[in-house]
Amino acid sequence: MNLESVLFSQGFGSRRQCRALIADARVSIGGTPIADPDTDVDTNALTFAVDGIAWPFRERAYIVLNKPAGYECSRDPQHHLSVFNLLPAQFATRGVQCVGRLDQDTTGLLLLSDDGQFVHAYTSPKRKVPKVYHATTRHPLDDAQLTALRDGVLLHGETKPVAAVAAHARGDHALELTVLEGKYHQVKRMVAAAGNRVEALHRERIGGLALPADLAAGAWQWLDESDLGALRGG
Ligand code: URA
Repeated sequence: MNLESVLFSQGFGSRRQCRALIADARVSIGGTPIADPDTDVDTNALTFAVDGIAWPFRERAYIVLNKPAGYECSRDPQHHLSVFNLLPAQFATRGVQCVGRLDQDTTGLLLLSDDGQFVHAYTSPKRKVPKVYHATTRHPLDDAQLTALRDGVLLHGETKPVAAVAAHARGDHALELTVLEGKYHQVKRMVAAAGNRVEALHRERIGGLALPADLAAGAWQWLDESDLGALRGG
């Protein structure tokens, strides 16, 4: 692939902008600036740098963000900043999207990708991927609430009850809830239907993929093959 196409595919702007970056000697490989946009480059395990900042070539982007509160999972947010404000601009340019949505006040594991099939598969309600949440509740949890969550609660506007795959108390006001669907405000609505209220919500896991313990709030990282395998396998 020529260097212009490499930069273009990785979200460094229009073809014209990519050519200009290269012609201005701002792009290097292995420390050597390459000023010819038509230079043929082997993309296998390629890392290039733009203005000295290293960037790995990835045919498709799969990333995890530790979403902080106060950000919307939309490129066109209504009341808060967008999660894309936390990411390099290249991701939005190359068409990266959120895989499902977390509410603006929900924190934790958010996947993003520019692989349309992947985004669709993990957003689709048909694909029953367990998602594990930690909810802080306003009122103390009791057995009746936990049983209702496990047996199924009827959400406003729904015809069939929705049951949690698992519901455990981790403390008086700390609930671990595993759900398969990705309905709008699902956890908050389920907890409300069980007679309590969510005060804070954090997603810890999707499938077998846990939010990396060392990923700070607001930070992101690439997912590798083993992460994607864990996601599928969970
Ligand atoms: N359930 C909710 O209520 N909110 C989220 O952000 C995710 C799941």
